Amino acid sequence: MRESRPVIALDFPTFKEVKDFLELFPSEEKLYLKVGMELYYSAGPEVVRYLKKLGHSVFLDLKLHDIPNTVKSAMRVLSDLGVDMTNVHAAGGVEMMKAAREGLGKEAKLIAVTQLTSTSEEQMRDFQNIQTSLQESVIHYAKKTAEAGLDGVVCSAQEVKLIKEATSQDFICLTPGIRPSGAALGDQKRVMTPADAYQIGSDYIVVGRPITQTDDPVAAYQAIKDEWTRDWK
Ligand code: C5P
Repeated sequence: MRESRPVIALDFPTFKEVKDFLELFPSEEKLYLKVGMELYYSAGPEVVRYLKKLGHSVFLDLKLHDIPNTVKSAMRVLSDLGVDMTNVHAAGGVEMMKAAREGLGKEAKLIAVTQLTSTSEEQMRDFQNIQTSLQESVIHYAKKTAEAGLDGVVCSAQEVKLIKEATSQDFICLTPGIRPSGAALGDQKRVMTPADAYQIGSDYIVVGRPITQTDDPVAAYQAIKDEWTRDWK
């Protein structure tokens, strides 16, 4: 179930920068790429079609959150685009997540965002009026996500163990906030190395700037991939 390729976050503002970045890699190297809001809203579905045509896998990170019927219809469109994985906000509810699954079908993986890692426990209590610990809220959403028939969640590497215990070992934990030892943290605060993420059970790691913002992205990608798969049995 684990994905051996680190998922590269294509956090570029334009299609051209994506093309320039991908040209650095040998054409036979098939990558797993994350397209987020910035790129999708600037370049549109065309960018997904382009990546799929090149043979890459695509995680479309749009975090849908709307009424069930709207999410279902949107997911149908994303399914036609051929995305390999996409996501919703678990806060949209079980009915919304079930509708998303129906719209997307079973071919692509569907995961949910629980509490955004930018949300502090204090903000959650004050703004969302959820009077539990942040961790309990994350676990609650993960259980509901599993109940709705989704494949997993986006989470911090520190939460993987608890989430799998609360759901199942097969439940996908996709973890951003990955930094090889010695790399710049950027705005990430709680980070983990690829090898540690493997040890604690992450199924997919998402890595952006440590690959995209370096002088040699191909070498950086390879080093992170090697570290991620180093202890695989
Ligand atoms: O550059 P960096 O490796 O920090 O990029 C991580 C990617 O994962 C970004 O696209 C960011 O939006 C995304 N992400 C994250 N933390 C989350 C959810 C998504 O860093 N909790």
